[in-house]
Amino acid sequence: MAESGATLSNLSHEDRTFPPSEEFAAQANATAEWYDRADADREAFWAEQADRLTWSKKWDSVLEWDAPFAKWFVGGQLNVAYNCVDRHVEDGHGDQVAFHWEGEPGDTRTITYADLQREVCRTANALTELGVGKGDRVAIQLPMIPEAAFAMLACARLGALHSVVFGGFSPSALRSRIEDAEAKLLITSDGQYRRGKPAPMKENTDQAVADTPTIEHVLVVKRTETDVPWTEGRDVWWHDIVDRQPDTHEYESFDSEHPLYILYTSGTTGKPKGILHTSGGYLTQAAYTHHVVFDHKPGESVYWCTADIGWVTGHSYIVYGPLANRATSVMYEGTPNTPHEGRHWEIVQKYGVTIYYTAPTLIRTFMKWGKEIPEKYDLSSLRVLGSVGEPINPEAWIWYRENVGRNNCPIVDTWWQTETGAIMISPLPGVTAAKPGSAMRPLPGISAEVVTEEAEPVGPGGGGYLVLDKPWPAMLRGIWGDEERYRETYWSRFAKQGYYFAGDGAKYDDDGAIWLLGRVDDVMNVSGHRISTTEVESALVSHPTVAEAAVVGASDPTTGQGIVAFVILRGGVAQDEAKGADAIKALRDHVSKEIGPIAKPRQIMVVEELPKTRSGKIMRRLLRDVAENREVGDVTTLADSSVMDLISAGLQEGKGDD
Ligand code: WT7
Repeated sequence: MAESGATLSNLSHEDRTFPPSEEFAAQANATAEWYDRADADREAFWAEQADRLTWSKKWDSVLEWDAPFAKWFVGGQLNVAYNCVDRHVEDGHGDQVAFHWEGEPGDTRTITYADLQREVCRTANALTELGVGKGDRVAIQLPMIPEAAFAMLACARLGALHSVVFGGFSPSALRSRIEDAEAKLLITSDGQYRRGKPAPMKENTDQAVADTPTIEHVLVVKRTETDVPWTEGRDVWWHDIVDRQPDTHEYESFDSEHPLYILYTSGTTGKPKGILHTSGGYLTQAAYTHHVVFDHKPGESVYWCTADIGWVTGHSYIVYGPLANRATSVMYEGTPNTPHEGRHWEIVQKYGVTIYYTAPTLIRTFMKWGKEIPEKYDLSSLRVLGSVGEPINPEAWIWYRENVGRNNCPIVDTWWQTETGAIMISPLPGVTAAKPGSAMRPLPGISAEVVTEEAEPVGPGGGGYLVLDKPWPAMLRGIWGDEERYRETYWSRFAKQGYYFAGDGAKYDDDGAIWLLGRVDDVMNVSGHRISTTEVESALVSHPTVAEAAVVGASDPTTGQGIVAFVILRGGVAQDEAKGADAIKALRDHVSKEIGPIAKPRQIMVVEELPKTRSGKIMRRLLRDVAENREVGDVTTLADSSVMDLISAGLQEGKGDD
């Protein structure tokens, strides 16, 4: 954890704390007593949370833990979509708004719970007609439009697993996810709005399914009126098949452990991992955390999570958690500066948003745009602010508190992962005296530790690896089709202790608050998105001019980390030409085409050699020193210690590609 040194010393100066106001604490959903209650009897505590859902058959036991495999609410049965939609209508809340949807061009849709019920039922009927049933996999690549939520909930209703793929992922990324899950159906749209302009979508998804034998149909939502290529017999318009369906649907109840979805995320190898989540435990923790962390009040709060539905945050905190809690949510299709940099604040003002949940990278972007922008809007409706995706630096935290929260809103810095399914470490807004930049402590019912390489707990003030030492309801149940990788990735490092290895570094401060320090593996975090160094390296070496590549995440003032690549060209490639700006641009575009624009390297440097140990392992730590303009650290384990001089010298000449 040598790379955390700088961060560690920065943090030691942070001693500001912000306790909740008495007024807020008095009305909060959770109190300090919840920690004690959960500690006294964890299973009883989780049973109490599961009781907030509607079960068609009550569970026999709360937890069966056969490490590393958990079953929660064993023997229980429920339908997730019923819990998110129908039960609220049955309870007389059909007229409550579920989604205030705001399209990027300014068009809007208001979807009540009664509307949502009809749409989900129609969609479920249409999927049935297309041959989708219990256990089938459905791939979804859609913009942030209501149909994305309808499609996910329709799958849940039928017991089919969705695999949502972020709209910015390339056709080949979509194809490999479809192949891995053997999806039967792809749901997509004609196009999507991108910074005010329609961009094609189906044209890309068609490339992905050109050669995927498992796909039987492609269901296409019309969003941008873009011309699309069409394959008769395979392709179906959403409005043709969904709109003519009956708006009721008889749901079936599924086992608590019935799979709900697969969501792919980057690991340390080139192949993304299909993280598998199931029903009862997942929904319990998604709903519980949304209730206590955001202090959500059904029928009163107006909640906005700015994530994309293609990431786990969109799954747990746009769809499942909020809907299970009968939230009224804002769903926004577009980018934060279309058509102007005040778009988010305009939306907060328009709908009276009370809870706003976003990512540090966006907060830093808002800082760059200036506080004059939020100042122009009435943000007085806001009550709670959230942050997720990467460590939030104290400066951004304070800016968020002052300029968005007007010094009046608790900030919850929520640590969790695709794998954890729901929030794990976070302040409780009515209880915790929060420190700027700290996720503070595990939620009631959750247990985490910071340990050394030897699994010894570090004391106050100590740093090490973050582990989860007890199973939790929303935990992943495996990696789709790869049990070995599941064991290896998460459970082998502290196998003896049975700890889940999160892949993050963390430290305790002297008061026992937890500070997350970033990844300790070869996973980068760019704007809160996980990208593996190996994935980008394989994309680079798939280009005809590249012989070898090493990729590091270098700290970046806006995106958290930026991707910096070092490449060695193949013999015979005209070196001067391949080092030129056009060639570098072509390489960056190549990565973008292979993986998606989010993986496009910020910088590519052509080098003669890469720093390697005698066993051939690339020393990324040294490359990170170079990429971050630091003095290069200890080179004694290098096979050839002059390599770093060569690289540094070469870079001084070649600085300045965009
Ligand atoms: C990784 C998980 C959780 C949804 C979004 C990202 C980092 C996440 C925080 C936070 C510090 C954080 C970790 C984690 N991370 N939240 N509040 N403070 N780091 O999900 O793509 O699965 O990434 O994001 O490094 O391991 P993900």
